[in-house]
Parts: sequence; C-alpha cells; structure tokens
Amino acid sequence: MPVRQQREPAPVHPDIERVLLTGDRIQARLREMAALIDRDYADREVLLVGVLKGAFLLMADLARYVTVPMRFDFMAVSSYGSATQTSGVVRILKDLEQDIGQRHVLLVEDIVDTGLTLNYLLRSLRARRPASLDVLSLLTKPEQVRVPIEVRYVGFEVPGVFVVGYGLDYAERYRNLPYIGTLRRSVYETP
Ligand code: XMP
Ligand code: MG
Repeated sequence: MPVRQQREPAPVHPDIERVLLTGDRIQARLREMAALIDRDYADREVLLVGVLKGAFLLMADLARYVTVPMRFDFMAVSSYGSATQTSGVVRILKDLEQDIGQRHVLLVEDIVDTGLTLNYLLRSLRARRPASLDVLSLLTKPEQVRVPIEVRYVGFEVPGVFVVGYGLDYAERYRNLPYIGTLRRSVYETP
C-alpha cells in the first residue's frame, strides 16, 4: 500500500491526567543514551539484562539504537507491596538463562523509585561475579530515594508521583502507551 502521509499520533488515553514525557521525547533520549553505551562499550560485548515486565518496550527500542555487539537476557521480579508502593522484598520470578561471570552486564530498569528493588537485584547479580555491572534506568524519582544507588545512565528524573505508560502499569494496564503520564485520581480512587 502506498504511504502518503505520517500517521497522526494516537490521542491521549482518557485515564491520563497529564503527559509528562511524550513518545518523541522518550525516543530522542534513548538515542542519546545509546550513543553513550556505544562509546562506553566500544571494546566489550555488553549483556543487556531487562527487568520484566516494565522494561520490555525500553529494551526493544533502546537495543535498536545501540550499535555495539550485544546479547540479551531478562529477569522477572515482583516486589511485594500495594499497587503503587514497594516493600523492598523482592521475589525473582524468572532468573537469567546464562552465567554472567566475565560478562559486562547492563541492567535495564524502567524506574528507580525508593531503590529497594534495584538494591536487591544488584546484590543478587554482583554475587555472580560479572566483569562489570552497571544500571540504566529510564526514570528515577530522586525525591523518593531510600537506598542510594549509582545509576550510570538515567533517562529522566521525574517527581515523586505515580506514573504509567511506556512499560509502566497500574494494575497491569497502560503499559502499551507510547508516552509516560500521570493517572486521573478517579482511576485509583473508587468512590
Ligand atoms: P523501588 O521503590 O523498589 O520501586 O525503587 C521500583 C519498582 O516499583 C514500581 N514503581 C512504579 N511503577 N509507576 C509504576 O508503574 C511508578 O510511578 C512506579 N514507581 C515504582 C516499578 O515496578 C519499579 O520497578
Ligand atoms: Mg507495576
């Protein structure tokens, strides 16, 4: 089918109160971060480890902008707690499929909030003695930090409010939105 014009961006989901980061802005930042990864891993093969489910869109998009050789693996974790607050107790639902000893691991996270989840994951990965271990997170919430963690590549710093979209969910919904935004109160406050 001949392509005549670019598709209009989809309208904003009615449950979204405010768009914090547009899809275009996210993609532009991913290209910048990919350039840093290309520079930093120029002479080494990087193993991207995506933390499911939140990082699934991020992994797919970021990987297409990175040009250095890479491998992929995924972990799935669930943190106990309410829908919008983490408890710091993390359960590994799906572990890596490969030994990371001697590999240059880049852990790819959607968001670092209190840092509790990441702190737990890093301890688990460090114990496996990778050649290097660094973190990329699309978002950080500096106001919320309880465990300070060095995130080498930060996409954006966001305020301490609950956000959804681009992988992030509320009750497993909104992960597919190409942008990141806040939810209307009516969505999580049942009358
Ligand atoms: P911590 O506090 O352990 O939290 O750094 C990390 C995990 O909590 C979830 N999380 C969010 N999920 N919108 C979400 O959809 C948010 O604003 C948010 N803040 C934290 C997320 O699973 C993350 O990996
Ligand atoms: Mg979640």
